[in-house]
Parts: sequence; structure tokens; C-alpha cells
Amino acid sequence: MLKMKRIFHLIFRLLFLLEGGVWSLRNLSISVPRAVLSGEGQSAVLRCSYDLEGAALYSIRWYRAETEFYRYVPRELPPTMVFPLPGASVDLSQSDHHQVRIVNLNRRLSGDYQCEVSADAPLFHTDIRSAPLTVVDPPFRAPLLAVSQRNYIRGDVITANCTVDEAFPAPNITWILDDQKIAETVSSQAAELDLKERAAFSQLQLSVLEVQKYELGLSYTRDRLDRSYHPPNRESPRHTDSVSYNVLAPESGQFTLSCVATIHNIYARQSEVVIMREDAPQPASVTGENSAGTSPSVYMFLTLVCSGAAIVFSL
Ligand SMILES: *[C@@H]1O[C@H](CO)[C@@H](O)[C@H](O)[C@H]1NC(C)=O
Ligand SMILES: *[C@@H]1O[C@H](CO)[C@@H](O)[C@H](O)[C@H]1NC(C)=O
Ligand SMILES: *[C@@H]1O[C@H](CO)[C@@H](O)[C@H](O)[C@H]1NC(C)=O
Repeated sequence: MLKMKRIFHLIFRLLFLLEGGVWSLRNLSISVPRAVLSGEGQSAVLRCSYDLEGAALYSIRWYRAETEFYRYVPRELPPTMVFPLPGASVDLSQSDHHQVRIVNLNRRLSGDYQCEVSADAPLFHTDIRSAPLTVVDPPFRAPLLAVSQRNYIRGDVITANCTVDEAFPAPNITWILDDQKIAETVSSQAAELDLKERAAFSQLQLSVLEVQKYELGLSYTRDRLDRSYHPPNRESPRHTDSVSYNVLAPESGQFTLSCVATIHNIYARQSEVVIMREDAPQPASVTGENSAGTSPSVYMFLTLVCSGAAIVFSL
């Protein structure tokens, strides 16, 4: 009997030496969608891949924030054990030793998910990996764009507000000028921790610059992305942010402006696209010369044609 024990002990020691060689768990990796939509019919498949290098699997366990909700132990019958996961259910038909599918998620299930894999006796080599999942409650409506004016003259500073309904997490807001991203308001990640829905707001101060006043190439780049981030104001329930951008008055005498609310890679919605028009040039001076070389009526006609085209393109 004692001899037996010694032999087992020796084998155990030997296997420990071999750990990292055979019978060990390697290449454990977790794959969780960064974000999924909440609600009936929505689902998330969480995967865990590993290499047992010939050893048998003892168990795979899934946790959400330290609480186990799914266990697969091949030696047991049935091999599957499910623990209540308030705000979702596990789809057993599509869960096994490599993945677990959760359905009908509630945003309160946002957080870190872990997969823990154990190799079988005698080493029970165990490893764990974690990844975040955000369950998204999108805003009900498209973002609302309000502009201080729809006609401008060179030198004007146009104020544009983009307001997004409450959502979880608060969306990021991107400003689009003539199909180009010009600025972005990034919502606070820290605010995601309390799982509350929040509205989002971004204000754009758009300066329309006179061409001559500018040294081209010095400080102007059309595709520059102005990022600006301020932590949310404690007193104000919604996250506010303000960005500014300079645009050269376009030759065409007009440009379009819109904002887009995005949540990770699963939600993006654009506001109304507003066409901003330069006020018709002033009548020619007393000398009778028309500096633009185009009569106001032709100019007006062109503006109408161009805006018609812009409307067609934005549909
Ligand atoms: C598994 O891990 C080994 C090193 O331990 C590495 O060389 C190999 O590329 C990994 N395989 C995969 C599929 O990640
Ligand atoms: C934009 O929002 C600010 C602050 O809420 C408000 O004072 C201003 O009137 C708004 N401007 C427009 C054009 O709606
Ligand atoms: C907002 O943008 C930042 C920076 O690109 C990104 O890290 C974050 O995940 C985004 N937030 C949302 C809700 O999409």
C-alpha cells in the first residue's frame, strides 16, 4: 500500500516536470463579440479555444463577473450544468465544450466574461481568459441635428447641435461634412460601469473661412479629425461635448452637414443631412464689374441644380 502511494507520488512528480511539454493546456483564447443588441431574439456566441495536447478535458466553465453560469464536464452525465443567469438564458442546443450561446440578453449582462478550462487528472492544469461584452440598448430615434443657420457668409461661425436619445452605452457622435468625417465626440467609457442609459450631445462650432485669409497647407487640412474628449459633467445628466472645425468656403457655395451616432460596431444612424448655402454674392460694385464672372441668376440656378443632385445622392 505504501509502495503504491510512492509510485503515484513519483508519477505525479514526473508529470509535473513534463508540464509545459505534454498533457498541458496551451493556447487558451477567448472570443466574445465586443457588443450585441439586447432583447428577444438577440444572441451572443462566446467561444473558447484551447489545445490540450493529448490530455483529456476535465471541465470548461463560463463566468460572468465571477459568477459561474455554464459548466461542461465530459465525465459527468449529463455533461452540462447551467446556473441561472438573470437577464438571459443559455441555449443548450448550441453550447458545448468550445462555446456557449446566450440568448435574449438584457443590458445588465454587460461586463467581463471568463472561460476557464481544466485538463483532466492528475494535473488538472487550469487556465482562464477574460473578455468584455457590451449588451446594447440603442437609441429609439435617429440623431437630431439643429443648426444655428442654413445660410452663411464667409467668416460666419455656424453652431450645430447633435442630440441623441438615451441609449446604453452612450453613443459616440461623428460630424460629417460633404461625406468626410471632420470631428468626433467620444462618450465616456467609465459611464458604462453603472449600466445606465445616457443621452449623448455634441456641439460643433464650424468657422467658414475666407480663402484669401488662409495660408493653404499651413493649418488647414480638410480631412483632419478633431478628437476632443472631456469627462462627463457630474451635475449634468447628459454627456456634453463641444468640437470646433474650420472649413474653407467651398467654390460651389454650399456644403452638407450631418452627424452620425455610433455604438461600437453594431449601431450607426445618421441625422438629417442639412445643406448649408452661401448667401448669393453681393451685387456688382458701381464700376459694373462682376468679380465672380457669373451673373447672380446663373449662380442661383447652379445652386439649385447642385442641391438637387445633393439630395438625390443623400437619399
Ligand atoms: C500555440 O502555442 C504555441 C506555443 O506554445 C505556438 O507556437 C503556436 O503558434 C500556437 N498555436 C496557435 C494556433 O495559436
Ligand atoms: C445648441 O445647444 C445649446 C446648449 O444646449 C443651446 O444654447 C443652443 O441654442 C443650441 N443651438 C441650436 C442651433 O439649437
Ligand atoms: C467610442 O470611440 C472610442 C474611440 O474610438 C471607442 O474606444 C469606444 O469604444 C467608442 N464607444 C462606443 C460606444 O462606440
